Amino acid sequence: MASPPAAALTHFLLLALLFFPFAAAAAPHRHRIPSRHLASLNASAPPTTFFEVDRPIRPPLGSAGPCSTLLLSHSFGATYGRPPVTAAYAPPECLAAARAGGGSLALAVLEWTADCRGRQFDRIFGVWLSGAELLRSCTAEPRATGIVWSVSRDVTRYAALLADPGEVAVYLGNLVDQTYTGVYHVNLTLHLYFHPAPPPLTQQADLIVPISRSLPLNDGQWFAIQNSTDVQSKSLAIPSNTYRAVLEVFVSFHGSDEFWYTNPPNEYIEANNMSSLPGNGAFREVVVKVDEDVVGAVWPFTVIYTGGINPLLWRPITGIGSFNLPTYDIDITPFLGKLLDSKEHKFGFGVTNALDVWYVDANLHLWLDPKSKKTVASLVSYDAPPLVLDVKSGFSGLDGKFVTHASRHVSATGRVKSSHGEVTTTFNQRFSFANSNVFTTNGTVQVVNQTIDAKSGTFVKDASAVLLSEEVHKLFPLYIYTGTSDQVGDEYSLVSVIKLGVNDKMVSGGKLGFSYNSLRNSQSARGTMRVKKNLVVGGLGKTHQVYKYMGTDGCYFRDVSSSNYTITADKSGDSCAKRSPSSGVKVSLQCKVLQNVNLVCLVLCFSAQIMNHAVNP
Ligand SMILES: *[C@@H]1O[C@H](CO)[C@@H](O)[C@H](O)[C@H]1NC(C)=O
Ligand SMILES: *[C@@H]1O[C@H](CO)[C@@H](O)[C@H](O)[C@H]1NC(C)=O
Ligand SMILES: *[C@@H]1O[C@H](CO)[C@@H](O)[C@H](O)[C@H]1NC(C)=O
Ligand SMILES: *[C@@H]1O[C@H](CO)[C@@H](O)[C@H](O)[C@H]1NC(C)=O
Ligand SMILES: *[C@@H]1O[C@H](CO)[C@@H](O)[C@H](O)[C@H]1NC(C)=O
Ligand SMILES: *[C@@H]1O[C@H](CO)[C@@H](O)[C@H](O)[C@H]1NC(C)=O
Ligand SMILES: *[C@@H]1O[C@H](CO)[C@@H](O)[C@H](O)[C@H]1NC(C)=O
Repeated sequence: MASPPAAALTHFLLLALLFFPFAAAAAPHRHRIPSRHLASLNASAPPTTFFEVDRPIRPPLGSAGPCSTLLLSHSFGATYGRPPVTAAYAPPECLAAARAGGGSLALAVLEWTADCRGRQFDRIFGVWLSGAELLRSCTAEPRATGIVWSVSRDVTRYAALLADPGEVAVYLGNLVDQTYTGVYHVNLTLHLYFHPAPPPLTQQADLIVPISRSLPLNDGQWFAIQNSTDVQSKSLAIPSNTYRAVLEVFVSFHGSDEFWYTNPPNEYIEANNMSSLPGNGAFREVVVKVDEDVVGAVWPFTVIYTGGINPLLWRPITGIGSFNLPTYDIDITPFLGKLLDSKEHKFGFGVTNALDVWYVDANLHLWLDPKSKKTVASLVSYDAPPLVLDVKSGFSGLDGKFVTHASRHVSATGRVKSSHGEVTTTFNQRFSFANSNVFTTNGTVQVVNQTIDAKSGTFVKDASAVLLSEEVHKLFPLYIYTGTSDQVGDEYSLVSVIKLGVNDKMVSGGKLGFSYNSLRNSQSARGTMRVKKNLVVGGLGKTHQVYKYMGTDGCYFRDVSSSNYTITADKSGDSCAKRSPSSGVKVSLQCKVLQNVNLVCLVLCFSAQIMNHAVNP
């Protein structure tokens, strides 16, 4: 809960910490499900289905399947600090058969289904295959009458991993006792779809190297980053015939940093004697290093978990990204010149201004030259100036205003000579951040308004042509109002308003074709709740979400609203056509992609087409 730092809440924080053996895994700001929910247990009432709004994963046209395999089935209870649950993985027979018959993997989907009844908090969990993370997610908060939910993630990019025997590991840390009775029953299933022909392009990596903690261990395979100087790393050597390398980073934040974007600076905390409340200001970033070089950064989307701020807001529509946390790609091909020496190199993660705790790990996707044992690479240019961070503070007692601006850019160009010729790759990232954090009414009202703007570009060419020119733009707006009132002893009321959004755009052109997609996904939620001794004893939460996706691979639209557990309106469609949602007209692309063509022309061309096929409003 992003509550104002009133003195009573300090007490509440301490209580919450006492409740959990591992503060790392339990957010200090947490509301409990009132016990009277359990009293109303009715065995014949149907369970509630929780969901995160997302576009459906569609099998490619002409593909066959699914061929489904149960990877793991387990009941998670009292798992805190224990080893992950594991199961041996053998590639499904249908996968080997398809390959033997000259076919290929068209789509792989990992599906998590779970049910739970009783009392339990939102818990973070991870799924790994042979050490590579496949899914980072948060559980739904159960109710007495039971809940069910499922999460599907497209795992096609891990084709190389799926083809080899290995081990599936799931870590979901929870506590089961007389108070927390909810046990999560989980099935994990892999669904495969096949093309009759071999893969046309090498879109998927040939090798996936996990950058995570190795089994056997307790807790998750992720690294736990506990403070701003903590750097967690793994050293490894990569094959000497690598010609392309992309690092996919998984990130989640918990404990004192669950709501990092609402944290005031330490000076405010100290001046007001609130030492147990989280501080260090409202800016965070994950910095990724290879040896001593900063190769990129992640300015993460502000995922709000299912119990966050006001739990009544996220039932049954959960927060954007909470069931399927986003991952972040950093192309490190330009650095191959430093990595192709058959020696071990250190891949490290740190979090600027971190408080306890951030869970971070990564998968290194490597493309290998089938026709040579050794590729030759060099770093041509590299520019990574330090972070620019500016905080303007002013406060008097518990009221104050903190305005934070930050920016960073990283850019590197490198050459790789392989059987594909001599290819030059440039990867760059440009970030900017603005956060205004205002406390008023003697610190009982807090308003946070934040924007994260992250752009990245990949430009790949050989001697004769542009092979790929890709621009990705992510914009994450966030607005949070919280107001505490009627505080008497350990009882208070909280009003909250949250606006949370993901705006993504991707344009990609080159020899391999042209693609474009755009997503506008926004949630607007408001609620009240009465909290007594850390339990939500009453209130109302309303959430409205609008999701609009359009791209060269199709469109999807959903507009859904909830009030407490009830869906009050729900419209959806998958048409790209204007004013006729059912006509099924797909965005048709006549843009002809010429080698070396200017990307701007492509964008203009495609934008013109979108004008004619706007997604229904
Ligand atoms: C402001 O809040 C503090 C801490 O809760 C309290 O001690 C103080 O009396 C309050 N001041 C006013 C003017 O209400
Ligand atoms: C239990 O739930 C069922 C189905 O919702 C309902 O018909 C029944 O009246 C409920 N029983 C009690 C005792 O609340
Ligand atoms: C898991 O699979 C078993 C066997 O098919 C089924 O009985 C159970 O309901 C499933 N549980 C969930 C949560 O999907
Ligand atoms: C930061 O975390 C690391 C790893 O847990 C620990 O060794 C170190 O003492 C911590 N530093 C500070 C200043 O707390
Ligand atoms: C904080 O604590 C110090 C020492 O106990 C005390 O002198 C000071 O007045 C306190 N400040 C506030 C704002 O309560
Ligand atoms: C948040 O700040 C931006 C930029 O200053 C502003 O345009 C926007 O209106 C603000 N949002 C709210 C809800 O105040
Ligand atoms: C919404 O849920 C809360 C908590 O369960 C409950 O106290 C409240 O009465 C509900 N409100 C409505 C309008 O159903």
